[in-house]
Amino acid sequence: MAKLEYLQAVIDETHRARPIMPIGGARKLTAPLELGGYVLPASTTVVNCMYLVHRRPDVYPDPEKFLPERFIGKRSDPYQWTPFGGGIRRCLGMSFALFEMKLVLATVFSQTRLRIENPHAPVKRRGFFMVPEGGPRVVMVERRQRRSD
Ligand code: HEM
Repeated sequence: MAKLEYLQAVIDETHRARPIMPIGGARKLTAPLELGGYVLPASTTVVNCMYLVHRRPDVYPDPEKFLPERFIGKRSDPYQWTPFGGGIRRCLGMSFALFEMKLVLATVFSQTRLRIENPHAPVKRRGFFMVPEGGPRVVMVERRQRRSD
């Protein structure tokens, strides 16, 4: 699993380009804060918009392009890659969720060949989450022999 660097990069880039939550990690200020030239008074609720942070061209050149290579050979920066929030209240399940994704995808991709039917489906909100319109439609075009079979 540790050797699957490109798969890890695909997972990281997927979370960058299409974070499940567009915003998340609300914090209520206990003291005034200067942020980006604005002074926010105490008690203000501040929320991270990961959708926009992940689209900053100064941080991610060509942000609309899906480029897993961005993450090859470097770890995602916790201040610039925030699909799981950040700071001491960052998602408790992050490591578990990332490992589970990697395991499931490595297992599925090693045994099947898949084709996505709606690769350019626009993203829309369902409740609090971002999902592809019409749902992700995936077709299995080949089932590969398992090595142990
Ligand atoms: C792709 C999957 C997941 C995503 C994108 C996600 C995202 C997030 C985000 C954005 C937050 C808010 C963090 C913040 O306030 O800075 C959060 C909090 C949390 N998540 Fe997840 N999460 C995922 C999966 C999971 C799983 C699998 C678990 C449990 C097994 C989990 C448990 C939690 C808990 C307990 C918190 C609250 C942490 C706290 O307030 O201290 N999450 N998650």
